[in-house]
Amino acid sequence: QNREATSGIRTLRSKGARSDTLRGHRVSSQLDEIVKQEQLLFSLRNLVTKEWPNAELHLYGSCANSFGVSNSDIDVCLAINNSELSKLDILLRLADILKSGNLQNVQALPHARVPIVKLMDPVTGISCDICINNLLAVINTKLLKDYAQVDKRLRQLAFIVKHWAKCRQVNETYQGTLSSYAYVLMCIHFLQSRKPAILPCLQGMKVTYKAVVDDIEYSYYDQVEKLHNFGAHNKESIAQLLWAFFHYWAYKHDYTKDVISVRIAGTISKHAKDWTRRIGNDRHLICIEDPFEVTHDLGRVVDKFSIKILREEFERAADILQYDPNPTVTLFEPY
Ligand code: GTP
Ligand code: MG
Repeated sequence: QNREATSGIRTLRSKGARSDTLRGHRVSSQLDEIVKQEQLLFSLRNLVTKEWPNAELHLYGSCANSFGVSNSDIDVCLAINNSELSKLDILLRLADILKSGNLQNVQALPHARVPIVKLMDPVTGISCDICINNLLAVINTKLLKDYAQVDKRLRQLAFIVKHWAKCRQVNETYQGTLSSYAYVLMCIHFLQSRKPAILPCLQGMKVTYKAVVDDIEYSYYDQVEKLHNFGAHNKESIAQLLWAFFHYWAYKHDYTKDVISVRIAGTISKHAKDWTRRIGNDRHLICIEDPFEVTHDLGRVVDKFSIKILREEFERAADILQYDPNPTVTLFEPY
């Protein structure tokens, strides 16, 4: 009996040691990635400032908002104040500069929804998209990152929701479903609405951060290290929250009347925003207000076919989490 007991302990210990090693490996590969990203950003900055000394490069999107999974590709925004050149001229000139700087597959895409230059760095193996003066994306990246620091349940929930959306193919804006950015906003709104709230309304608090873009000021409270206990009164587990998230979007949200708004930590009526009918290509069948560009509905890409798919997927997910004996497998079954 003693021998069995000791060998049991040894097995447990060696399993523990193995998972420590795995964890160590994961942390070091994440660090490797960050180092490589910094290295690429450094060489891009060198190239760009030779041509435009006052230009700046900022990271945005999932490589900087803390909602990214291991994937070393990066999104960069070139901030440049140049009244002589049009945005198109800057984009084309940028592509030339990058081509001369030993980067591979440099390609300007001036007609994309967000015009970009794409490239691949042979030294680090990282691919990169550079857009011009899309500073609101840089600011909303910081807002998302700041919210993530308030309560760890936000990142946990958003990772699961993003993974679910990719598996179920409802994370494709060109097919009328929602962007990852929209899903993260849905998660923030949901955690702001719990009772007691798990997230605060950073844009409704004292201003500690300000940025000006095209003469408009954007501001919010960003001293999030002081808010670490904000959600502590709410003891809901991530499992309960995940079920409640899908249940909300399946059965509780009023698609005909409501717009969700992280900016006010609540909902606004579609009527008040004049989002009750189709205008141009914007259909407003599910309404998610951008926290800074308040006239911008992140649900605008959703059409009468894809709204049906989305709502069925929310119902499927809510039902699986309620009734399925093995929900962690079924929930993520590839579509
Ligand atoms: P994955 O690439 O799926 O991991 O997610 P992501 O966090 O990079 O999100 P996504 O690719 O949807 O968006 C990248 C960034 O672009 C976001 O963090 C936003 O800053 C910005 N963005 C995306 N869509 C919009 C939009 O419609 N309006 C604005 N203002 N910004 C957007
Ligand atoms: Mg992205």
